[in-house]
Amino acid sequence: MKYLVTGAAGFIGSAVSERLCAQGHEVIGIDNINDYYDINLKLARLDRISHPAFTFIKMDLADREGIADLFADQCFERVIHLAAQAGVRYSIDNPLAYADSNLVGHLTILEGCRQHHVQHLVYASSSSVYGLNQKMPFDTADSVDHPISLYAATKKSNELMAHTYSHLYGLPTTGLRFFTVYGPWGRPDMALFKFTKKIVGGEPIDIYNNGDMHRDFTYIDDIVEGIIRIQDVLPRTNPEWSVEAGTPATSSAPYRVYNIGHGSPVKLMDYINALEEALGIEAKKNFMPMQPGDVYATYADTEDLFEMTGYKPEVSVRQGVKAFVDWYREFYQC
Ligand SMILES: NC(=O)c1ccc[n+]([C@@H]2O[C@H](COP(=O)([O-])OP(=O)(O)OC[C@H]3O[C@@H](n4cnc5c(N)ncnc54)[C@H](O)[C@@H]3O)[C@@H](O)[C@H]2O)c1
Repeated sequence: MKYLVTGAAGFIGSAVSERLCAQGHEVIGIDNINDYYDINLKLARLDRISHPAFTFIKMDLADREGIADLFADQCFERVIHLAAQAGVRYSIDNPLAYADSNLVGHLTILEGCRQHHVQHLVYASSSSVYGLNQKMPFDTADSVDHPISLYAATKKSNELMAHTYSHLYGLPTTGLRFFTVYGPWGRPDMALFKFTKKIVGGEPIDIYNNGDMHRDFTYIDDIVEGIIRIQDVLPRTNPEWSVEAGTPATSSAPYRVYNIGHGSPVKLMDYINALEEALGIEAKKNFMPMQPGDVYATYADTEDLFEMTGYKPEVSVRQGVKAFVDWYREFYQC
């Protein structure tokens, strides 16, 4: 099949593109290669894909004409939309970057899918949509109307925009709420990467909320497996569905939203211990208060995804952190 993968130079997008090519599909990957973090890492991820079935096109999601022409030229069967301005903290100082990439950008992709009858649009949402929710585990059946960062608000908006396209035009859409993805080729703005860099450099690490945080850390290979499986499960229309009897993650339209996480929360301090062990270095620790926009815990209920795909994450934090450290040491020669 012919796929469009957006954010193909990104952490998750590059891994998904690589897997699709290995499975014998044709992949057109787009990315604007912005400098939110080190461009060299993005370029190295693209180099690593280097498969004859993969074509990279540098393009911005907000380029309305460019995206419309791309869809018209390429006749994609499936779209995996992962490009976005990520990061919770960055959205506090740079709100407009989120409007361009995550709102306008999401709409250009929805329009392309609608105009060219794409079979299935799978797109990235985020665990951050759970915002002020306290009930654990986070369940897609719960309402998510109280985001606490602009980033989260744009991800929730993505789900709402997708729903209107599923309803109005019968476009099958699936939103995936990712829970803290980590592993080789990961993002420099995320905790594991930052901690590793500092520990290797002999600098102290900042640990927010005095280390009293829990995260549902999900290894990159498990995430890719979940994405690959769910993109084969096309949501269907369901005339029997009603708001009263359904959940926010389901609809009469061909629309679904799933959590995709490990499904077991890990204490931040256990994660740091796994990192110290993999590096063979004890970290110098700066205990800090909670950051604005951050949440105390994330923990995914992944039952629905398991029911639909048999997806069950396999990689433990100890194994995953070790794989990250091995990659980091080789990539940065340290
Ligand atoms: N990694 C995680 O833990 C996590 C958690 C929740 C949600 N997500 C979501 O998953 C998706 C992929 O995340 P990731 O970790 O791979 O992030 P990433 O930043 O590594 O990848 C996103 C890619 O999109 C590109 N991009 C951004 N704006 C663009 C635009 N306007 N036009 C074209 N390309 C653009 C970036 O250059 C980047 O390469 C994102 O939508 C992110 O919000 C990730």
